[in-house]
Amino acid sequence: MEKVLYEGKSKLVCAALDEQNCIIRYKDTATAFDGKKKEELHGKGALNAAISNFIYRYLEDNGVKTHFIKALDETSVLVKRAEIIMVEVIVRNVAAGSFSRKYGVPEGYWLKNAAVEFSLKSDELGDPMINATQITALGIASKAELEELVQTALKINKLLVELFMKAGIKLIDFKLEFGRSGDGIILCDEISPDSCRLWEDGTDKKLDKDRFRQELGGVTEGYADVLRRLKSVG
Ligand code: TMP
Ligand code: ASP
Repeated sequence: MEKVLYEGKSKLVCAALDEQNCIIRYKDTATAFDGKKKEELHGKGALNAAISNFIYRYLEDNGVKTHFIKALDETSVLVKRAEIIMVEVIVRNVAAGSFSRKYGVPEGYWLKNAAVEFSLKSDELGDPMINATQITALGIASKAELEELVQTALKINKLLVELFMKAGIKLIDFKLEFGRSGDGIILCDEISPDSCRLWEDGTDKKLDKDRFRQELGGVTEGYADVLRRLKSVG
């Protein structure tokens, strides 16, 4: 029996033969609102694995260190093992979601610069927003590590805005997770329509998990469109 190291809402993390690595297995489960809304969406796991693998290869090719090693099958990927830093790093180019609600900014407003924010990785507490001095005060990450997270997140943003633009998609916002490894800080987790807001250029049609959160229907169709468009870029 395979050893499950951790079960998340949309992925399993399993032990690999080499202790330095682990295997991520994507599930078809979709959740929102800290797991309060939950559904099985056939094919979502494979779509997210394919999209995330495509993006991680592109980031590696452009000098970003990630946990990605190789795809094992349609829903499984071999990654480097890392100690996850317990903050989510969110980058926003356009107001939407909690930013719009919190600051009273209409969805779709282009921000004057990319905004970076952190939230504490805790479903129990509802992933509350947390600032840099609170993170260092709690010993979650050092000041130098946080600076590296912000610079890397901004670099990833630039690369992804460019990639998605070529695919006819606007990158509204996204969430990243990082970990400490033998190679220093590396990008972990996934980048997929579960963790990004992606709008079709020209129509602003939502192609991401907001289709699930807002009950718009056509969730996996949106994800499949993202994959098809990325593949068409090369
Ligand atoms: P928010 O506007 O709800 O704060 O979400 C910002 C971005 O982070 C959006 O692209 C969705 C992503 N996200 C996650 O990946 N996981 C989460 O738990 C939440 C709340 C948002
Ligand atoms: N990922 C979170 C959950 O499953 C929240 C979200 O993405 O909206 O609850």
